[in-house]
Amino acid sequence: MPRHFIRIRDLGSDARTLLVRAGEIKKSRFRSELLRGKTIVLLFEKASTRTRLSFEVGIRRLGGQCIFMTPLESQLGRSEPLEDTARVIGRYNDGIVVRTFSEEKVRKLAEYSGVPVINALTDQGHPCQVLSDVFTMYERRPDLEKVKVAWVGDGNNMANSFIEAALVFGFTLVLACPHGYGPDPSLLSEVQAAGAAVTLTDSPREAVAGAHFVNTDVWASMGQEAEQKAREHAFQGFFVDDALMSAAAPGALFMHCLPAHKGEEVSFDVFEGPASIVFDQAENRLHMQMALMEWVFTEETARTQRSISPKSA
Ligand code: CP
Ligand code: NVA
Repeated sequence: MPRHFIRIRDLGSDARTLLVRAGEIKKSRFRSELLRGKTIVLLFEKASTRTRLSFEVGIRRLGGQCIFMTPLESQLGRSEPLEDTARVIGRYNDGIVVRTFSEEKVRKLAEYSGVPVINALTDQGHPCQVLSDVFTMYERRPDLEKVKVAWVGDGNNMANSFIEAALVFGFTLVLACPHGYGPDPSLLSEVQAAGAAVTLTDSPREAVAGAHFVNTDVWASMGQEAEQKAREHAFQGFFVDDALMSAAAPGALFMHCLPAHKGEEVSFDVFEGPASIVFDQAENRLHMQMALMEWVFTEETARTQRSISPKSA
């Protein structure tokens, strides 16, 4: 079976090592030939700036090539079944980075393509972003187990991946979400049962009390545009401004995966102010995903070689 990255938990005990590796890659402006002769397909059913650019640049820095593909100009948009598209992609290419709606589709690609699949955002999670965000926190606070993270706003794909990350990396996470907009309840109870320090409240002030990092995201994610007005109403009070930041730990930092709606979920002053590390987060997508691709494709190269080398006598 190829190695896939669909959820943060897929990293298993390698998770910490990957943070260290991302740091080495960043410091050395690392280049390699790991992906020489390999082609990775970026299959995107939703818009992207950071994810597309950071994967395309990262693949090139690892010596590979990529092909960007969307339903608009492929047969996917004319209802060719995903399992057929997956099998075709796998016949010509060496990996898939996919951004789509349901995680089920990512799993289907993994099942049918025969090549490694990396989840570049679904409605349920954004593991590449959150893994990079954990690296951004780790650069400042390697003692992640002593770190408190606040999530203020929608219990969306980002929130779900932060919940998983809290379990894997051991930081404390408090989410403040309006009623009816909480994260995946089964994921929340599962990680709580597994011992993760993750709690849910409806009070942004309670969530940020003592927090070292304050995170938020847009009120309406991609695919929820029709809900924008209702969400604007439901999310009143769930925004990050100077007053909320001053209720966090001294020196607390502001995080946002971007794109941001300044004046909605975050004030202009916080976004542009000294506590904001949002562009470090964006930069770290590149370094962290290079470490992630090493993790995926070093194993894939070894697996392929095992399968073609003659059995020893
Ligand atoms: N944060 C993030 O994933 O950005 P894009 O939608 O621009 O890729
Ligand atoms: N929650 C946002 C993240 C964008 C990177 C969305 O899904 O649109």
